[in-house]
Amino acid sequence: MEGIEYLYELCEALPRSGPGDNVSTRRAFYSIPRPQNQPFILDIGCGQGMQTIELARISDGNIIALDNHQGFLDLLMEKARKQGLEDKIIPQNLSMLDMDFEEETFDIIWSEGALYFMGFQNGLRRCHQLLKDNGCLAVTELVYTVTDPPNAVVEYLGTEYPDIKNVAENIELIEKERFNLIANFTLSESAWLDNYYIPIDKELPRLTKKYQGNEVAQTIFEGFKHEVEFYRKYSKFYGYEFFVMQKR
Ligand SMILES: C[S@@+](CC[C@H](N)C(=O)[O-])C[C@H]1O[C@@H](n2cnc3c(N)ncnc32)[C@H](O)[C@@H]1O
Repeated sequence: MEGIEYLYELCEALPRSGPGDNVSTRRAFYSIPRPQNQPFILDIGCGQGMQTIELARISDGNIIALDNHQGFLDLLMEKARKQGLEDKIIPQNLSMLDMDFEEETFDIIWSEGALYFMGFQNGLRRCHQLLKDNGCLAVTELVYTVTDPPNAVVEYLGTEYPDIKNVAENIELIEKERFNLIANFTLSESAWLDNYYIPIDKELPRLTKKYQGNEVAQTIFEGFKHEVEFYRKYSKFYGYEFFVMQKR
């Protein structure tokens, strides 16, 4: 992607790189039936790892934090060290498309706002292979939250995210890919705003000024500005859904 360095620079200045919060991470984790002691967890597309740190805190597990951007992994491990959690987190700079773990390795696989990089269905399949029997997958995915979203929303999201479905269609897919759904819930608006869109609003003026005259950077920043405005206008019609499921 042209100009990805500007996207990274923006995201590295944020508490996280997508919608989410610790309340929803905890809610998803505690919906897992009898999470075992010291589960082995894979966090796919962990970014700067707000959810990785929370999982390390609440799970007593060991976590492989996987991302293909080293800058995020460095930020994650800096936070982990400050909180005395570095022994529980193994950062791994690797593309999720190249994961070569043995089959049936993990008790839990986590992925907030990232599994779509390998295609949601393909991601479900890959996670099914990597999970132990009865292992659980918790993932957030962009969804339509109504059955009949307005044209403006379908046009914008259809371009940005052609694979988008509604909640029922995703559940159908989950069942088809040999998982039992355990829980699902829609992230609150504050999960979009507090750790993601409001910090973006704060950072954009500084970066826009820093890269004045740089067309590539400005296009990236404009895209974010538009995304935030779009969400503020149409948040009734789409959102992120947390799906927690168990391998069948
Ligand atoms: C929307 S962000 C979500 C980050 C984090 N889970 C969160 O919720 O804050 C998506 C993350 O996926 C990572 N990513 C994108 N493509 C990837 C790939 N092919 N392999 C591994 N990570 C990838 C990005 O670097 C980014 O950290």
